[in-house]
Amino acid sequence: MSLLNHISLPHLLIYFILFCFILLSLTYWLPLLYLSCLPVQDLRARYYADLRHSLPPQRRPRRRRNSLSPGSISPNRLHDAHDVHDAQAAATEPWALITGASSGIGLALARQVAAQGIHLVLVARDDALLPEAVQSLRAQHPAVLVRAVAVDLSDSRPAPGTDRTGHPPAYPEYLRRIAEATDDLLHHGTLRLAFSNAGYLLMSFFRQRTLAEHLRNWECNVTCALRLSHHLITKWHEYQKRTGWTGTTASGRPAVRPFGLLVFTSSASWFLPSPFAALYGAAKAALSAFAQSLAVEVRDQGIDVLVVQPSYTRTNLYQEAPKLAILEFLDRYTAATPEQVARTILRSVGRGVVSREIGGYAYLTRWLGHVLDIGGLCAAMIPFRHHMAEYRLYAQAG
Ligand SMILES: NC(=O)c1ccc[n+]([C@@H]2O[C@H](COP(=O)([O-])OP(=O)(O)OC[C@H]3O[C@@H](n4cnc5c(N)ncnc54)[C@H](OP(=O)(O)O)[C@@H]3O)[C@@H](O)[C@H]2O)c1
Repeated sequence: MSLLNHISLPHLLIYFILFCFILLSLTYWLPLLYLSCLPVQDLRARYYADLRHSLPPQRRPRRRRNSLSPGSISPNRLHDAHDVHDAQAAATEPWALITGASSGIGLALARQVAAQGIHLVLVARDDALLPEAVQSLRAQHPAVLVRAVAVDLSDSRPAPGTDRTGHPPAYPEYLRRIAEATDDLLHHGTLRLAFSNAGYLLMSFFRQRTLAEHLRNWECNVTCALRLSHHLITKWHEYQKRTGWTGTTASGRPAVRPFGLLVFTSSASWFLPSPFAALYGAAKAALSAFAQSLAVEVRDQGIDVLVVQPSYTRTNLYQEAPKLAILEFLDRYTAATPEQVARTILRSVGRGVVSREIGGYAYLTRWLGHVLDIGGLCAAMIPFRHHMAEYRLYAQAG
């Protein structure tokens, strides 16, 4: 009582605000610190425990009889997703699907997943990067099988043909091709890891691009991930029902056994305003929000969901972007390598976290989001828009 007599109300308020500030900061920084100390997740041990009796031990690299020798891959052969089909591996060994796997973060993920002895299904456009990626992965990991699906994930035109009602199928051609390439793996329950990572950045004033360009970008950055997740979750559910897989552990405890993994590559731009790349920020916000809710729903199926928000990473993403001072600054002082980002992703999966920032810029801005009002920040940017380099650049373009 005597202590309270000496503390005035304004002081009490200041202490209370300080307390909240420290509490909010700790709830953000402490889990991050914990995650940074963890080793990379052993994906085979976590997600294939029930298949382990049929899994071969992690072999030293050897060339498979049926694998293509590097150099023999022509881009056309990539269209045939089953050109390295190995019925035994499809039925009994672990597989992972990675979209946007021909360069940057996706390719780094592919390398690190392959290093754990997991076969790969890689998805990217039909350009020179995909055959190069396949070739280098096969050379580095001869024991790992690689299937490649060359499709444009921004093209939502429906697959040819009609469904049972006589209408064109409700899914696009690229999903049909991915489904075809993974059908046997999903049937056998050996494809349990999926990384929805493909994406690209469009910069300009919103009105300076056609709506068609924006919608294609949206398809690749968001809708494709939703379609793919729906396909995989449905197929996993069918497999679990067919094989009598139950989520409960052998001891009958309520803990759910891990079965599969969905990882989404979002971006640090999802929680801050992203003028001049408005659709990119909005797409990543949609992806992050979707993933966080999905994580709760699919728990009973034993599916871990992780959405990551990397900061500036040195990849091809900015190839088409103008040489802005802010990008050069981030590149020089804060840029991570795709390998670092991939390692952080594999450290974070299956650790009970659903959403994870990666890199100093993402940590700082997300933490600011904990303690500042983002709507207020947007409002504060409006009077200063003319001073932004991007504004001046795109305003000049008319
Ligand atoms: N770099 C960063 O600073 C950063 C930061 C935060 C988040 N991200 C996110 O990280 C993810 C990977 O990007 P990255 O930085 O690694 O850039 P990247 O090197 O350009 O890789 C993008 C990948 O997506 C594929 N892709 C792009 N458009 C496609 C399309 N229409 N159809 C099929 N595949 C397509 C690309 O393959 P092709 O071009 O061969 O088709 C490539 O494999 C993206 O979702 C990006 O938004 C990047």
